[in-house]
Amino acid sequence: MDLTYRPRRLRRTNSLREMVRENTVSASDFIYPLFVHEGSDTQEIAAMPGTSRWPIDGLIDEVKRAWNLGIRCVVIFPKVPDEQKTEDGAECFNEKGLIPRTIERLKKEIPEMCVMTDVALDPYSCDGHDGIVSDDGIILNDATVNYLCKQAVVQARAGADLIGPSDMMDGRVGAIREALDDEGFEHVGIISYTAKYSSAYYGPFREALDSAPRSISNKPIPKNKNTYQMDPANAREAITEAQLDEQEGSDILMVKPGLAYLDIIYRLREESELPIAAYNVSGEYSMVKAAAQRGWIDEREIVLETLLSFKRAGANLILTYHACDAAGWLKE
Ligand code: PBG
Repeated sequence: MDLTYRPRRLRRTNSLREMVRENTVSASDFIYPLFVHEGSDTQEIAAMPGTSRWPIDGLIDEVKRAWNLGIRCVVIFPKVPDEQKTEDGAECFNEKGLIPRTIERLKKEIPEMCVMTDVALDPYSCDGHDGIVSDDGIILNDATVNYLCKQAVVQARAGADLIGPSDMMDGRVGAIREALDDEGFEHVGIISYTAKYSSAYYGPFREALDSAPRSISNKPIPKNKNTYQMDPANAREAITEAQLDEQEGSDILMVKPGLAYLDIIYRLREESELPIAAYNVSGEYSMVKAAAQRGWIDEREIVLETLLSFKRAGANLILTYHACDAAGWLKE
């Protein structure tokens, strides 16, 4: 054939392919999510093979391992005992609660590791909702924001570097920014869950924390999070959320879930100059694990390809339960 341009010329050798490679993944792109509980045992999470609910001591060792693999940020989620759960989830701003204690230990033992938190009421409320539920079953926006501000300040006081509001209440980023500044935490950043969709991909996570929405006897409880998390059908709305978060002072924007929402990552990358994070959520993780356990896919290749796809779509950071495995593979 008489072809002037043959794209295969630049695919011919490994060196040529490396030279023209447009995107790469490295361990410092990862934010590693970890679960912590009050017990002293390490509990495997059935729905998420390879992850655990750690006691604080075990979590410290796991975070040291992550640091040595090149990971520079962790995010911690609490499994709160039922007896500490209340209708309003006030345990979320207990200064002596599980999360503040874990942050203090982490910053003492591995001071350079960036610690991110999750701000929402769902691990702390009896009904599993991210906001306070009124007697007639409405998620109360402004009353919830007041609680989230207190939660964020407690986390900042314990030493958190990045506060991650995951609740999707309106106006919470600006309110949290102001609350942090008022308390002298102007140096603490906000990584907002900007476009967080109401997704079935969070199923295994809710099992890990026992935080799925559930009915309680004295009031009607919505069965899903559709009145605050975004409709999976909407893309333009994500841009509105991004504009609001940016105006309100968010430092990093996040899209969640990740893999089924690569178009949203791409759109936010076009719209904003802020760093963008993608959350490769629990359901995405567990699907890969399940297929790999059956020998149907090559886990290593699938994970590295997936992580690369987030970078190609425009994400700078990736929250992923595969972080340590992937960081190990990248070192080989
Ligand atoms: C809580 C929260 C959720 C996740 C992160 N923070 C669950 C939810 O909104 O129901 C999900 C993470 C995952 O599935 O990996 N607000």
